[in-house]
Amino acid sequence: MYASILVVAADPENRENWKQLLESQGYHTVAIASGERVLDLCAHLQPDLVLMEAGLPDVSGLEICRRLKEDPRNKLTPVILIEGLSGDPGPSTLRGAEADDVWGPRPSRWEALTRVQSLLQLKSYIDEQAEAVVLSLARSIEERDTYTRGHCERIAQAALQLGIKVGLPGEQVEELRLAGMVHDVGKVSVPDSVLLKPGPLNPRETAIIRRHPVDGERICSPFKSLRRVLPIIRHHHERMDGSGYPDGLRGDAIPLAARILQIVDIYDALTTDRPYREAFSAKQALATLYYEGERGWLDMELVRIFAPVAAAPKSTGSNPGPGKVEKLRHIV
Ligand SMILES: [Fe+2]
Repeated sequence: MYASILVVAADPENRENWKQLLESQGYHTVAIASGERVLDLCAHLQPDLVLMEAGLPDVSGLEICRRLKEDPRNKLTPVILIEGLSGDPGPSTLRGAEADDVWGPRPSRWEALTRVQSLLQLKSYIDEQAEAVVLSLARSIEERDTYTRGHCERIAQAALQLGIKVGLPGEQVEELRLAGMVHDVGKVSVPDSVLLKPGPLNPRETAIIRRHPVDGERICSPFKSLRRVLPIIRHHHERMDGSGYPDGLRGDAIPLAARILQIVDIYDALTTDRPYREAFSAKQALATLYYEGERGWLDMELVRIFAPVAAAPKSTGSNPGPGKVEKLRHIV
């Protein structure tokens, strides 16, 4: 897949020249005149590189560059600033804006393409490594707790199966698999005293563990290969009735993939031993999912689709047992 480049140049002729040059090399190029639009466009397009004039008339390229780099999502996106013809601001000022490269006002075509290619290769390498690093971090969190070993692998497989059953396209099924692996990576900042606590959590501990979806989103947000799973990471503890966290989203406002992931996540948590209880049987676990669907927490339609995937007898939807649901750690 070709890289995408956002060109920001005030002069129409310059803008068109850059666009033609980059597109002649197969890059997907979007060219705009306004610095003001860069932040919004970057959030939407997620370009692999930004090539921008420093002396834009509305907002200076320096200021845009600083703002881009302040956002964790853009931290690793290379930004090239091109000096104005007057040479002001100079290269040292431009580098102070955290630009990845600073060019003189009239770079040759050969030099420009070579430097663009080098930055894109570096970016591509970082993106490739990112997934491996975050996966390894996610596995290290599992290793902290003997009870959750293998949880992410199982979730990834189960989410993939449920995604297929729901009829999601292949790309989204792959996103679900990846999200299954990394959805709890934010627990890296939860101390062992909370993560491994055998008894119920107090309000302070609950607040700590409830930060993990947002922390996970923050950890994964700089890496382009993980960006499409950010909504799943952030929203995998929302509830259909709005009583979940971190944003209290309701119903269809919760991304479908997050609703799928939470069902397989809860099912796996229920069917494995925990320090504070023994594993539920498949039948008990499914009964709990139906119960939580009826309480307005889970997407009941997805629970119904999941039941045969879980390869267990369908529940009648009855309460799994007095007090059992309230004692489940997955509620936090
Ligand atoms: Fe979680």
